[in-house]
Amino acid sequence: MITMNTISISRRKFAQILGAGATAALVRPTFSFANQPEHVSATSNAVRLSANENPYGPSPSALKAMTDSFGLSCRYPDEHNNVLIEKLAKLNNVSHDQILLGDGSGEILKLCAETFTGKQRGALVVAVPTFEAILLNASANGADVVKVPLTGSFAHDLPKMMAAAKGGLIYVCNPNNPTASITPKDELRDFVEKTPRGTMILVDEAYFHYADSPDYESMIPLVQDHPSLIVSRTFSKIYGMAGLRCGYCVAQKETLERIRPHQMWDSVNIMALTAGSASLDDPEQVPNGQRLNNEAKTFTIGELNKMGYKTIPSQANFIMFDCKRPVLPLIKAMKDRNVHVGRLFPPVPNHMRVTIGKKSEMESFLNAFKQVMA
Ligand SMILES: Cc1ncc(COP(=O)(O)O)c(C=O)c1O
Repeated sequence: MITMNTISISRRKFAQILGAGATAALVRPTFSFANQPEHVSATSNAVRLSANENPYGPSPSALKAMTDSFGLSCRYPDEHNNVLIEKLAKLNNVSHDQILLGDGSGEILKLCAETFTGKQRGALVVAVPTFEAILLNASANGADVVKVPLTGSFAHDLPKMMAAAKGGLIYVCNPNNPTASITPKDELRDFVEKTPRGTMILVDEAYFHYADSPDYESMIPLVQDHPSLIVSRTFSKIYGMAGLRCGYCVAQKETLERIRPHQMWDSVNIMALTAGSASLDDPEQVPNGQRLNNEAKTFTIGELNKMGYKTIPSQANFIMFDCKRPVLPLIKAMKDRNVHVGRLFPPVPNHMRVTIGKKSEMESFLNAFKQVMA
């Protein structure tokens, strides 16, 4: 049996007793969400706008699914992998063997670096600035990392990235972290069509649900025709499950078969799997998250504009803007006022990255920002 995060027929016979009825009998919930703080923060009362998290938390159905699963914590998660994979396959209009789950999409990025980069396999080609985790994974794998600056409109410079790649892996983060900008769909489609087969492409769509520009499009439908294409998604953002760790990628079966041997078995835990499945069944989670993010983002951008600060057009749950002076001391001064914003990104030393929190949190951010700039 394969016990990794792929569909499998389990030899764990005991799993057969873990149907819905047996589950109900096993569970004795003693935990209530009623008295949980409204603003969940990893650092007590700080306003946490530093990690592009979703301040509204997981879907109520996900919370219930997790409570209902406490009693299953003694079991390996195979069957729950299968349930989530089937749902994701249906959602993305692919077959179940084209989905691989990960311990957050961070694990998918790491697996792609391990599988497709290295001294023999080739370099990792990335934009600067972009989400850096995969750079560290590729470097640890002995791979060279080629950095190609974003264009003037903060899109990936795809012709230059393609020219820089010889085998190996090109990483395209769309929408891009930390700039919140997108790479236009026509350019990206053309790039996927034209990149030579020996070079793999990973499109990271962690912020997919927050993008509403007509110029934006998911690359998942292109997977059918492109064995070199892998598209990653996460439950950490719109589904509010950053602390649970669940992500996945879509790729052709043969591509996933190359990646799988690098993965630890059962890397996604049962709480994350049941919460992920329940989230997908909640019709409110995505539109609510989009609406609340848009409202707080529009408010924040409007206030910053009034103060004379212009943001890079944002297609994500965070914004980046030019502070017109070095951001490093500002980050510290904001922290002293209990407002945590994104770290310094050396290629854009005057830009601040701020996660869009609840409106009340954005008011705290704006108050602190006014003070530190005064
Ligand atoms: C662009 C991007 N990709 C991947 C990740 C990793 O997300 P996770 O491992 O929580 O799915 C993040 C986290 O912020 C991100 O910004």
